[in-house]
Amino acid sequence: MMENILNDNIRAIRWQNNALELLDQRLLPARAEYLRLEHVNDVADAIRDMVVRGAPAIGITAAYGVVIAASARYQQSATSWKQDILDDIHTLAQARPTAVNLFWALDHMKQLFDQIKGDPTKILLDEASDIHRKDIEANHTMGQYGAALIDKSCAVLTHCNTGSLATGGFGTALGVIRQAYKNGNIKQVFADETRPWLQGSRLTAWELSQDRIPVSLIVEGAAAHLLKQGEIGWVIVGADRIAANGDVANKIGTYGLAILARHHNVKFMVAAPTTTIDMAMTSGEKITIEQRPGAEILSFGGQSIYENNMENEGICAWNPAFDITPYSLIDALVTEKGAIVQPTHEKLVALMKND
Ligand code: MRU
Repeated sequence: MMENILNDNIRAIRWQNNALELLDQRLLPARAEYLRLEHVNDVADAIRDMVVRGAPAIGITAAYGVVIAASARYQQSATSWKQDILDDIHTLAQARPTAVNLFWALDHMKQLFDQIKGDPTKILLDEASDIHRKDIEANHTMGQYGAALIDKSCAVLTHCNTGSLATGGFGTALGVIRQAYKNGNIKQVFADETRPWLQGSRLTAWELSQDRIPVSLIVEGAAAHLLKQGEIGWVIVGADRIAANGDVANKIGTYGLAILARHHNVKFMVAAPTTTIDMAMTSGEKITIEQRPGAEILSFGGQSIYENNMENEGICAWNPAFDITPYSLIDALVTEKGAIVQPTHEKLVALMKND
């Protein structure tokens, strides 16, 4: 079975025949269908509506969105496109608030505008492709760093989806897991189902099964009981934004897992590229947490849980998509520039200076 490991064939994002194609993650694993996007508003909608999700994947998608916008704006006006495109960049930035990779990618693309004379399409497309390629490279590098920390064979628990689908390819936390499995140090992966979008059941389990890595799904409520069994060596998660003090915003439920891990003496690892680190954000408490529509948890499997709409019954929903894990609960923060054990502000500053 080992020969299939690290094949990494799944791609959530591709550029084909002058358009962006996104694997519609809302349909997985039942159907693998790509949506073709030729207008920047459709790109913003795809991010908001979860066609594409996962912090690095959102950033890469936004970079291609800038290419689409620039090409259209230049055709409308060769003289004012640099001004006109600011509306499109604003639209993309409004799509989701928590993952900093979105804002990082938009800023990165915008910085090129000054040096562009004439049609911007090629230079911006080259840059977006470069962001995409470098993300895959970073994932492989952090996979090595993270796997090196797992020095004896154990089971691991992961949350949400941090694999090829959530990134340019290979994955952050799931990249570490893929690499550590290849090294022979992971016996079994437990994956939280991750309500309400089921990124764990629909995406993580699917990705791991493609690689033939043994995976068992659990409901989030089973995590404490699982950790008590003593089989889990590491909880390994990704991040949507890491503040300068080491606090981590990630999928709702991550904070609870970090508390449980500390209580049960299980190590807690966060794997993310440096594009997810926001040194301008002094602490996690200042990160905007996305609130998603209550309807996402007032139904199950497309069916309203009550016969009458729950909101009509006076039942409301509070649906934060992310939470903040304080740095003090994190044993290792793994990036493509290296791994930090017990992250602090000083260690993050030093890491960001590495080339
Ligand atoms: O709401 P999602 O599916 O975009 O949330 C994704 C996560 O929380 C991931 O853990 C995070 O983006 C890291 S992905 C490499």
